[in-house]
Amino acid sequence: MTDTMPSDLLDLARAAKGFMPADEGDLLFRIALERLPHGPGLEVGTYCGKSGIYLGAAAQRVGGTVFTVDHHRGSEENQAGWEHHDASVVDPEFGLMDTLGQFRKNIARAGLEDHVVAVVGRSSTVAAHWRTPLSLLFIDGGHGEEPARADFQGWAHWVGTGGYLAIHDVFPDPADGGRPPYEQIYLPALAGGAFTEIEVVGSLRVLRRVSGAAGDPLR
Ligand SMILES: C[S@@+](CC[C@H](N)C(=O)[O-])C[C@H]1O[C@@H](n2cnc3c(N)ncnc32)[C@H](O)[C@@H]1O
Repeated sequence: MTDTMPSDLLDLARAAKGFMPADEGDLLFRIALERLPHGPGLEVGTYCGKSGIYLGAAAQRVGGTVFTVDHHRGSEENQAGWEHHDASVVDPEFGLMDTLGQFRKNIARAGLEDHVVAVVGRSSTVAAHWRTPLSLLFIDGGHGEEPARADFQGWAHWVGTGGYLAIHDVFPDPADGGRPPYEQIYLPALAGGAFTEIEVVGSLRVLRRVSGAAGDPLR
């Protein structure tokens, strides 16, 4: 099986609004191809579905499913006055970000609606009710300390043995970017011994769960 994405989906992924560099997207596609035959994937933080197209393309190839969890109201850094604000995704009625419509269009254009399932809500609320083992977990949600910590605590233990935890925007050197994904997700995942690092491209780190079963608390 080739690990290259169909060119039409690659074009759509690259054209979608969002925060996923092409080389990191290629890695997402490749790890999803590996893992999705064994169980569902879930991403925390989909924004307009850019990373969701890479993951969904793999799900389509192997007959798998990816859940995307996002309240679609944007992270702190997406709000007005911040670096990553985009006024074109503000709902004028509420004066709040709303990326759900763009997400839906992007996934529909890519023909991935049977494979990418949107769960719209706060990550910690969805996690509190989640009970399904994950073969692949991709965390790219809120990048502040509190949301990053909550995403690790709420989701990482649902990765089954042999499953992957992928973390975006991991910057060990503060000169390169914000610290919370590194300090609140990446370091605790490795420190507990349940995960080991297997691949790095740019700021995307991929860890494999090497001990414990899905749902078992992490140390
Ligand atoms: C960095 S963006 C995701 C980028 C996306 N993966 C891409 O490929 O373009 C982070 C997303 O996380 C969402 N988010 C932030 N905090 C959240 C929370 N506590 N619950 C649900 N979604 C959250 C935001 O709405 C935003 O869409």
